Amino acid sequence: MENTEKKLGFSTRQIHVGKFKNSAGALCDPIYQTSTFAFDSVEQGGARFAGTEAGYVYSRPANPTTNSVEAKIASLENGEAAMATASGMGAITATIYRSVVAGDEIVADETLYGCTFAFLSKEIVQLGVKVTFVDLNEPGALKKALTEKTKVVYFETPCNPTLKVIDIKAVADEAHAFNPSIRVVVDNTFCSPYLQRPLDLGADVVVHSATKYINGHGDVIAGFVVGKKEFIDDVRAIGVVHMNGAVMSPFNAFLIARGLKTLSIRMERHCANARKLAAWLEAHPAVKKVYYPGLESFEGYETAKKQMSDFGGMISIELKADKATTAATINKLKLCTIAVSLGDAETLVEHAASMTHSTYSAEELAEAGISEGLVRISTGLEDIEDIIADFEQAFADLK
Ligand SMILES: Cc1ncc(COP(=O)(O)O)c(C=O)c1O
Repeated sequence: MENTEKKLGFSTRQIHVGKFKNSAGALCDPIYQTSTFAFDSVEQGGARFAGTEAGYVYSRPANPTTNSVEAKIASLENGEAAMATASGMGAITATIYRSVVAGDEIVADETLYGCTFAFLSKEIVQLGVKVTFVDLNEPGALKKALTEKTKVVYFETPCNPTLKVIDIKAVADEAHAFNPSIRVVVDNTFCSPYLQRPLDLGADVVVHSATKYINGHGDVIAGFVVGKKEFIDDVRAIGVVHMNGAVMSPFNAFLIARGLKTLSIRMERHCANARKLAAWLEAHPAVKKVYYPGLESFEGYETAKKQMSDFGGMISIELKADKATTAATINKLKLCTIAVSLGDAETLVEHAASMTHSTYSAEELAEAGISEGLVRISTGLEDIEDIIADFEQAFADLK
């Protein structure tokens, strides 16, 4: 089915879009576990390389199994096209490599996944690209940072790990009013296309760590770039094929196709569980602060309500305890797992400053609003009573 099929509902498309006919009539798309594809003749191989004949060449540029999940993600994000990558970082780096050259500038929000922050603050700058970090929610901050050299505005929403919510339409409108050719890139990992579709709100490109909710089962590292066909063709042909080589394997594409079949129902359960857990945490006397877009007391609540269809499965907390007591408390969790990553069936709990965000210095953490004691929770799909009971026993000695 074509990804232009917009009349079908989201859950139908997550299952059916991209499926292709196979000789055995297998219900699930087969895994084309091959590096290369046979040509009938030298002339045919030459024509495929020249692009004058359609067909597969080699699995770095394209493979039928990965093409199938690309069509699904393009459809679910309401994008023209998508490129599957080996990881979220593969998607992010290919996007940036194809958007800037030496002398160009990027404006990025200061609260980002740790490796994205490291790439933008330490690596891309070595290639002669200037990156200005701002708080995109601070009035006037974007306007002040934009220059004639700005090629990209980059952010996540909700941000990892503070769940800060950034108004996608407002940022895209302001960037495009300054210069319509600025590429507004949104990392949509925390929402998945089920909860939020940045392209509909004016963003130009969406990037994903598909390792998270899109796959949903904790057994794959993967990513996607979604946007206009012309840009995705360029990310594929140069950003991935020539530059970072971060191509998704056919087996991982198969696992993602399997995970995607239940994306909508998984997201609904993640959201329902997180809403209950956040309310319980907010009411607990040992909890200093709950970061969760679905709490009316949270700063990003109104924007989240406007641009997300539900509030997601991610929660962060600060306890009233010091760092050592916080760690000792988290160590008492029995059902919930102490691990980085998110969006899996299992509830995962991590300490951002020493784990996912250890690429930030102490000053940078403070600047980005990431408290030293911040604990991030990816609410899983277990029975919510069991998740809460686990936190209850771990918090038992706290006052
Ligand atoms: C918001 C966000 N973007 C990107 C990434 C990088 O994705 P990957 O680990 O698949 O490379 C992560 C990883 O945790 C993330 O949380």
